[in-house]
Amino acid sequence: MFLEVIVLAAGQGKRMRSDLPKVLHPLAGRPLLAHVLETARALTPKRIFVVHGHGAQAVQAAFAGQQDLEWVLQAEQLGTGHAVQQALPRLSKDAMALILYGDVPLIGARTLDELVSAAREGLSLLTAEPADATAYGRLVRDSSGRVARIVEHKDASESERAIREINAGFYALSVARLAAWLPRMKNQNAQKEYYLTDIVGFAVGEGVPVAAVKAADPWEVAGVNSKRELAELEREVQRREAARLMESGATLADPSRIDVRGTVQCGRDVSIDVNCVFEGRVALGDGVVIGPNCVLRDVSIGSGTQVLAFSHLQEAEVGAHCRIGPYARLRPGATLAEDVHVGNFVEVKASRLGAGSKANHLAYVGDSQVGRRVNIGAGTITCNYDGSAKHRTVIEDECFIGSDSTLVAPVRISRGSYIGAGSTITKDTPPGQLTVGRAKQVSIPSWKPKKKA
Ligand code: UD1
Ligand code: CA
Repeated sequence: MFLEVIVLAAGQGKRMRSDLPKVLHPLAGRPLLAHVLETARALTPKRIFVVHGHGAQAVQAAFAGQQDLEWVLQAEQLGTGHAVQQALPRLSKDAMALILYGDVPLIGARTLDELVSAAREGLSLLTAEPADATAYGRLVRDSSGRVARIVEHKDASESERAIREINAGFYALSVARLAAWLPRMKNQNAQKEYYLTDIVGFAVGEGVPVAAVKAADPWEVAGVNSKRELAELEREVQRREAARLMESGATLADPSRIDVRGTVQCGRDVSIDVNCVFEGRVALGDGVVIGPNCVLRDVSIGSGTQVLAFSHLQEAEVGAHCRIGPYARLRPGATLAEDVHVGNFVEVKASRLGAGSKANHLAYVGDSQVGRRVNIGAGTITCNYDGSAKHRTVIEDECFIGSDSTLVAPVRISRGSYIGAGSTITKDTPPGQLTVGRAKQVSIPSWKPKKKA
């Protein structure tokens, strides 16, 4: 039987106290729902339905372009059973249905595989025994230990509330059975909702086997209902990321002080100091050292390069054996060849710096092509913007740009040029010559200081 997945994601998430629909809150940099969808895809289902309602447009927009998703609108949230009912007409009659929640992000593909296998005979549901079962539906078993029904916390008696085995809310069953049972739900309960959990009672009534599959890891069934739970899950994800990095050989100064919001690939002997944030796709070559408090987003860094404290790198490509920072900023399109130094308070944007070039202090290099072994002195600015358009600066190999120079683009500093400190360069310079573009220094011998009154 082929598989179709239904992800319930229509709820408001009142306790989040947020304008953002709950399933869009980020966990490790991605919406909660994205985590669930990734796991669902690992099972290679034939189709994935997402039942959405609250903030429907925003939710759909966040996943625009993901052609494999089929959106089902639940305009009014009348309960989990009602939610699945909205998808029912579009499910394939001969499919196996797997029902997931969009706000339970750490569910594992292996556990879901087990759940699906367990449904071959009838209905399977996922269970757990969390430390605090309040707010969950409880699994009521009969005297011989078979699952009898599920009772919601709000509907449960004192003795039922003492049950520690809970319903995680994930089920697998044939669409044929789902179609037979869903119309039989009633909303006569404490919440006046159509409870999906009623299918368990129907299965038992018809003698259809009900298999309870226990989640291997309690985090797999942990849902997000509040900012606090979101933060707890975030820590768990980060703990796993740190463990994975260390297993791959990275040295972390403190595994509890690293945040990965994307993917980090490490070579051998990478070392990462405290409080670094990695976003998007980050690749660190062998022996890369990242100092404390750095932010790296979509960057690749060549082997042996050091990124010193408080540096911010985004959409940049850094070669081998470079030294970046402390307090450096590489903006989108910064491409550094090997042995490049970008020091404190230096900003590089949409520019290529050739091998061995250095900008060690207080400089802005934007929209530029910088050759090899160029020295860019402190305070140098490429004036790339004239108020309406951006222009390019070309600095050829082995130039020396004196401190506090302004290079007014478009301009070309030819090979081996030496620019005197404090120059404002508005015209291309000839190769191998000293160019000075500043007022001549004068001293006035007849000058006398004014007498104070
Ligand atoms: C549900 C289960 C409960 C289980 C718990 C696990 C029912 C009646 N109860 O309770 O046994 O222990 O999950 O977390 O099913 N949703 C919709 N549309 C709706 C209602 C909910 O899409 O009309 C979605 C929510 O967005 C959420 C999921 O379904 O992702 C679960 O809804 P929630 O309200 O959290 O269910 P609980 O009442 O907590
Ligand atoms: Ca819930």
